[in-house]
Amino acid sequence: MQTGQRDSFGSRFGVIAAAAGSAIGLGNIWRFPYVLGENGGGIFLLIYLLLVAMVGIPVMLSEFTIGRSTQRNPYGAFRRLAPGQPWYLVGMMGIVAAFMILAFYTVVAGWTLEYLYQALVHGFRGLSSQQLNDMFDHFRGGTFRPILWFLIFMFLTAWIVVAGIRNGIEKYTKVLMPFLFVLILVLDVRAVTLPGAAEGLKFLFKPDLSKISAETILEALGQGFFSLSIGMGTLITYGSYIGKQERLGNTALNVTIADTLIAVLAGIAIFPAVFAFGIQPDVGTGLVFKTLPLIFQEMPGGYFFAIIFFLLLSIAALTSTISVLEVIVAFFSEELHLTRRSATLLASSAVGVLGIFAAGSWGWFHKVEMLGQNFFGILDFTTANILLPLGGFFIVLFVGWFMGTDRVRAELSNDGTIRAAYLPVFLFLVRFVAPLAIALVFMNGLGWI
Ligand code: PHE
Repeated sequence: MQTGQRDSFGSRFGVIAAAAGSAIGLGNIWRFPYVLGENGGGIFLLIYLLLVAMVGIPVMLSEFTIGRSTQRNPYGAFRRLAPGQPWYLVGMMGIVAAFMILAFYTVVAGWTLEYLYQALVHGFRGLSSQQLNDMFDHFRGGTFRPILWFLIFMFLTAWIVVAGIRNGIEKYTKVLMPFLFVLILVLDVRAVTLPGAAEGLKFLFKPDLSKISAETILEALGQGFFSLSIGMGTLITYGSYIGKQERLGNTALNVTIADTLIAVLAGIAIFPAVFAFGIQPDVGTGLVFKTLPLIFQEMPGGYFFAIIFFLLLSIAALTSTISVLEVIVAFFSEELHLTRRSATLLASSAVGVLGIFAAGSWGWFHKVEMLGQNFFGILDFTTANILLPLGGFFIVLFVGWFMGTDRVRAELSNDGTIRAAYLPVFLFLVRFVAPLAIALVFMNGLGWI
């Protein structure tokens, strides 16, 4: 595809919906609560918020800057900005991370479809907490169903991506995101009025300083990167479709606020129920699937809300999987000169193969383990806690020290047509604060210092 005919977002709301759609996903509603549950509750939230402000926003804005100024996929963007230098490896790493994330993430997205189906056929009716636990473990440990749902979800993702930016990604996210927001609010109201809700809210909001540890901080950083979709070029890719008149600083801020808000709202929907029903908050990846069906049984109209919830969880996942697939598709089509159709087919087939193994992590493929993690866990840990922070580290270094202040200023001020008074603060963050914070957390979390 020639640069001149490049597809792009058609409206301001479309940009926010697509980028927030990428950021808001299973990371907020499924991953955030269980990681918080495993890492001491309130203290995790506090560290998380700090890291999002100090590191998350600078990385996101850096990605938008790189993307919009080059109009290229992550690999091509670095090639263009730093010809003949090894920076393109950062882009490459992002493409690899995209494959890995898509493979495990779409598996969980597949679980949401199974649960949507169960909600429709009254599959949770009358089940106790223990029975719901077993139901989830049994489903996830099976062979056929997790793979089938995964493949269906992969197909849906490819179907939207193949339609392009404006007529695919933007068109769907614009409708789906507002819908998601309303639903989560409804669930919150129900959750906080449950008897015993206060205990859950305390767990979420009251920091217990004794629970702080190097791992907690690394997990918070990893969760921040994962949730904001940063560190691997998703937002370089989306940034490359943002129009020249948009304010990148505002966009980054709005997307970050929306993402963080939804994560907190998801915590408010989940922890009161977890405590009200005596479930342990640290059960891990199954948390949402095991607890929410219990709440639905307790609420008037629960049948209806369960359907809507799992539908919306699938939707949140879908607006994220399309953004990850788009990274690979943009790379294939621009660098290998494939048509959008062939690029999508190739990318989704490759991910399809990897994902079949990830889907089997609790069943036929469970014997493959590393450091006590199954294949799914390996993909999750390596991407969120290693590849994304590493990518983010190089992205901020690049924008802070190598891209050139003039170029960065031109991009953030739309060639001098708008004020970007925050520029000095931004430069300070990307030059010093963010790289240092990432390096420290990273080395500390891995036990190197
Ligand atoms: N941010 C998404 C979520 O929270 C996941 C994601 C990670 C999407 C990385 C794109 C890139 O669900």
